[in-house]
Amino acid sequence: MYSTIFSRAGVALLLGSSSLVSALTVDLDSPQSIKDTAATIAYDMMSYYKGNQSGGIIGVLPGPPPDPPTGYYWWESGAMWGTIIEYWHYTNDSSYNAVAAAGIEAQVGENLDMMPKNWSQSMGNDDQAFWGMTAMLAAEYKFQDPPPTSPGWLALAQAVFNTQAIRPDPPCGGGLRWQVYPYLTGYDYKNSIANGCFFNIGARLAKYTSNDTYAVHATKAWDWITSVGLMDHDYNVYDGAHIGTNCTDINRVQFSYNSAVWLLGAANMYNYTNGSAIWEERVNGLLNRTLNLFFPDNIAYEISCEPKLSCTTDMFSFKAYLTRWLASTIMVAPYTRELIMPKLRASAIAAAKQCSGDANGRTCGLSWSKGTVWDGTKGVGQQMGAMSAIFVNLLDHVYVPPPVTNSTGGTSVGNNNAGSQSVADPEALKPATQGDKVGAGILTTIVLVGATGMFGWMSI
Ligand SMILES: *[C@@H]1O[C@H](CO)[C@@H](O)[C@H](O)[C@H]1NC(C)=O
Ligand SMILES: *[C@@H]1O[C@H](CO)[C@@H](O)[C@H](O)[C@H]1NC(C)=O
Ligand SMILES: *[C@@H]1O[C@H](CO)[C@@H](O)[C@H](O)[C@H]1NC(C)=O
Ligand SMILES: *[C@@H]1O[C@H](CO)[C@@H](O)[C@H](O)[C@H]1NC(C)=O
Ligand SMILES: *[C@@H]1O[C@H](CO)[C@@H](O)[C@H](O)[C@H]1NC(C)=O
Ligand SMILES: *[C@@H]1O[C@H](CO)[C@@H](O)[C@H](O)[C@H]1NC(C)=O
Ligand SMILES: *[C@@H]1O[C@H](CO)[C@@H](O)[C@H](O)[C@H]1NC(C)=O
Ligand SMILES: *[C@@H]1O[C@H](CO)[C@@H](O)[C@H](O)[C@H]1NC(C)=O
Ligand SMILES: *[C@@H]1O[C@H](CO)[C@@H](O)[C@H](O)[C@H]1NC(C)=O
Repeated sequence: MYSTIFSRAGVALLLGSSSLVSALTVDLDSPQSIKDTAATIAYDMMSYYKGNQSGGIIGVLPGPPPDPPTGYYWWESGAMWGTIIEYWHYTNDSSYNAVAAAGIEAQVGENLDMMPKNWSQSMGNDDQAFWGMTAMLAAEYKFQDPPPTSPGWLALAQAVFNTQAIRPDPPCGGGLRWQVYPYLTGYDYKNSIANGCFFNIGARLAKYTSNDTYAVHATKAWDWITSVGLMDHDYNVYDGAHIGTNCTDINRVQFSYNSAVWLLGAANMYNYTNGSAIWEERVNGLLNRTLNLFFPDNIAYEISCEPKLSCTTDMFSFKAYLTRWLASTIMVAPYTRELIMPKLRASAIAAAKQCSGDANGRTCGLSWSKGTVWDGTKGVGQQMGAMSAIFVNLLDHVYVPPPVTNSTGGTSVGNNNAGSQSVADPEALKPATQGDKVGAGILTTIVLVGATGMFGWMSI
């Protein structure tokens, strides 16, 4: 079956001066070519997943680092299943649907809120929310439902929302902290991604359920991030700030997923408010800034780490969400299409060329702007980014159904009280034991030392 996919995929062979260089190609005028190239990259991405094999954990990629050093934090597995759901929705290729569904269901956690105790050493609000956004996507795209004995996709997204809605606290005038638990390094940091994911889920829940409570919370998140200056008047979205300074020490590094997560949330608010002027203005501002900053020469570029390839494993995946969320923005704010599609087209062609590395000659790097010269990096993030940039171009060829809502065919089972179990469960909020604390300290110290070497800004 897979060999059939490969024989259909476009593989160009180019003769280098001393070695044979190959690269993937994609013909964006051909939906079949888009599907074939995306299928090849998806297959290679899934080869990193060992959850079904002995020693593997269902739903989770190997990791986190340093075990193994090239491993992945728990959140990225949730992001990968979201990419698989999106891949299926665009291409109709359901090859990985069963694995994805089983993987998500295995990681819902003891309290059915996407916060398994196993991963409490790296549980940021953003980590939890990436799984929440994947559950939301599953509801929006009518992905195969969990068995009736398990919570529905909608209920999982609501659980993430409900558990996070009560977490904003007084320092910095509100907003979510980065980390969930006080013993984790980064608990004193309030950042754009944690709050942006919450905003994004809230806006989408408002649209899906027509329940205005979610929109009220989303609007509050928007008001907070702009008041504190993490999003400025020019729609730059900065990374975060510490509560010790009342969030005045703004860390001005910009990542594409921060801008995109707010953009898609704003586009959903625009849609939910029936095209209101205020949300249109915000969509326009964010879109303009996102396209101007992250698409030099029209090709997606992770400005803060791509120039010197100093990206961490997490950062290598950000362009996947950038491209996917721009495409989703088109679905809920269709007037943005003419601005967005040229960037997705140029990015797709470039991304395919950069899938030219390693022994198989088609491993994807990050440096899409470098043509077929592989940048020497590889991983789930790079595969996920390239496939996302490519499959979203099916928007030019086939009808890709926009997200459903409860009144347009959505049938995912919800639960307004989802997550309350976790709030009520003293075990879940229990402070870390001394052992946990030490473990967390060591883990985050290793991570931060690694990151600080490349990013002086991340001083905590
Ligand atoms: C997926 O299936 C739908 C429904 O049959 C069809 O309209 C659409 O064109 C298909 N998409 C692709 C990429 O083939
Ligand atoms: C992995 O698990 C999924 C879900 O249970 C199953 O559909 C799939 O066939 C399994 N894959 C392998 C290679 O065992
Ligand atoms: C939790 O971690 C243990 C040890 O690595 C593993 O055996 C188990 O499958 C994990 N459970 C879940 C739900 O991920
Ligand atoms: C802290 O920051 C918030 C949000 O910017 C602001 O409303 C509040 O007045 C600040 N508090 C102090 C003590 O400066
Ligand atoms: C969705 O709509 C159905 C039928 O109108 C209704 O019974 C159900 O309560 C709604 N669910 C939500 C979450 O709004
Ligand atoms: C959007 O329009 C629909 C249909 O006219 C209406 O029922 C709904 O209340 C409106 N939503 C908002 C947020 O104004
Ligand atoms: C987009 O932003 C640029 C500056 O970054 C500005 O010159 C331009 O007018 C903006 N375009 C729109 C349509 O807002
Ligand atoms: C809202 O999204 C739907 C698709 O989900 C789209 O048909 C509609 O035009 C959007 N509304 C606005 C105001 O753009
Ligand atoms: C709307 O959502 C809120 C928050 O979950 C919930 O308390 C309320 O009951 C919901 N309203 C309806 C009509 O479902």
